[in-house]
Amino acid sequence: VSFQSQGFRLIRSETRTTATSNNPYAPAEARVMRVQEVRPDLRIIDLRFADPELARTFTFAPGQFVLLSVLGVGEAPFSLPSSPTRAGSFQLVIRRAGSVTSYVFDHVREGDTIGIRGPLGHGYPVEALRGRNLLMAAHGLGIIAVRGLLQYVMDLRDQFGHVTLLYGAESPDQLLFTDELASLQRRGDAEVHRTVDLVRGRGWSGPIGPVHDLLADVEVDPAITSGIACGSAAFYGTVIEPMVARGLAKDRIYLSLERRMECGLGKCGHCAVGYTFTCLHGPVFTYWDALNLPELIADYSGDGS
Ligand SMILES: Cc1cc2nc3c(=O)[nH]c(=O)nc-3n(C[C@H](O)[C@H](O)[C@H](O)COP(=O)(O)OP(=O)(O)OC[C@H]3O[C@@H](n4cnc5c(N)ncnc54)[C@H](O)[C@@H]3O)c2cc1C
Ligand code: FES
Repeated sequence: VSFQSQGFRLIRSETRTTATSNNPYAPAEARVMRVQEVRPDLRIIDLRFADPELARTFTFAPGQFVLLSVLGVGEAPFSLPSSPTRAGSFQLVIRRAGSVTSYVFDHVREGDTIGIRGPLGHGYPVEALRGRNLLMAAHGLGIIAVRGLLQYVMDLRDQFGHVTLLYGAESPDQLLFTDELASLQRRGDAEVHRTVDLVRGRGWSGPIGPVHDLLADVEVDPAITSGIACGSAAFYGTVIEPMVARGLAKDRIYLSLERRMECGLGKCGHCAVGYTFTCLHGPVFTYWDALNLPELIADYSGDGS
C-alpha cells in the first residue's frame, strides 16, 4: 500500500500513548456537563475530564475520534465534533444504535461520568489546509466530523481562505447545527448551502436533491481549494467525482472513512483493510489513498457518523 498524500504520517505499528493516559487502553473519567436532545434518536453531550489537569491540556486534531466506554456495557467510537481551540470541554454527537449508545440515552444524565480514551486516529491535516479555500460536503451524520473542522477554521478564521459548506440530509428535520450554520452564513464567515433528499409537508423552501447538485451554484478555484467530504459510501460515490470534475486534486480531497472498531490502536485488526488500519491511518484519508485501496470505500458501510 503506498500512501502518497500530504500531511499524513504512516504508523505501521507503534506503542502509542493517548492524551487520556500513558496506558492507551485505560479510559479517563469525563463528567457530562450538558445533554441536548436534538432528535429522539440523537443527543449532543458536553464533556469535561474529571482530572482538572487533563481537562486543561486535552487536545486533538479535527477529524480524530475518541472511544466512549461504560463499565460493564462496552466501548464505541465517536468523532469529535468540537474544536481543540475551545479548551476545557468537548462535545460528542451520539445517535442511538446499540448497547453503548442506548445505555447513554437511558441512563447517563448531567453530572454523571463516563469513560473516554483518545484522541485516536489521524484527523484532517490542518497544516496542509491552512491558507487554502475549503470546499466541504457532508450528508447525514457526516456533518459531525466536518463540524469539528468547521469550528476549528472559524476560530482561526484569518488563517484559511473562503469556506463553502454543501450539506444535505434525508429531510429538513434531520439537518443538524441549523442555527450555528445560519449564523456563519449571516456573518459572511462561510458560504452555506443546504439541501434535503425529500420533503413531507410544508416548512422547507430550500433545494431538494443531492448534495452534488449544489456544486453547480458555487465558484471553485481549484488551484487553491481543498475538498472535504463526509457521509455514506453512496454519498462518496456521488460527490467526489464532481469535485474532481471541478478541478480539485485527488490528493487534496479528504474523506472520513469509518469501520467497526474495537481497540482503536491498530492492534486487533477489526478495522483493517489489507495492511491499513482505519483507526490508526485514518479515519481521514485522501481520495488518492482510497483509489489506491478501493476497498476503503467499497466495503465501507458507515453513514459517516
Ligand atoms: C471513527 C468513528 C466515528 C464515529 N462517530 C460517531 C458519532 O460521532 N456519532 C455516532 O452516533 N456514531 C458514531 N460512530 C458510529 C458508532 O461508533 C456506532 O454506531 C457504534 O456501534 C455504537 O455503539 P453501540 O454499542 O451503541 O452499538 P452496537 O451495539 O455496536 O450496535 C450498532 C449497530 O451495529 C449492529 N452490530 C452490532 N454488532 C455487530 C457486528 N459484530 N457486526 C455487524 N453489525 C453489528 C447492531 O445491530 C446495531 O445496529 C462512529 C464510528 C466510527 C468508527
Ligand atoms: S480497531 Fe483494532 S486495529 Fe483498528
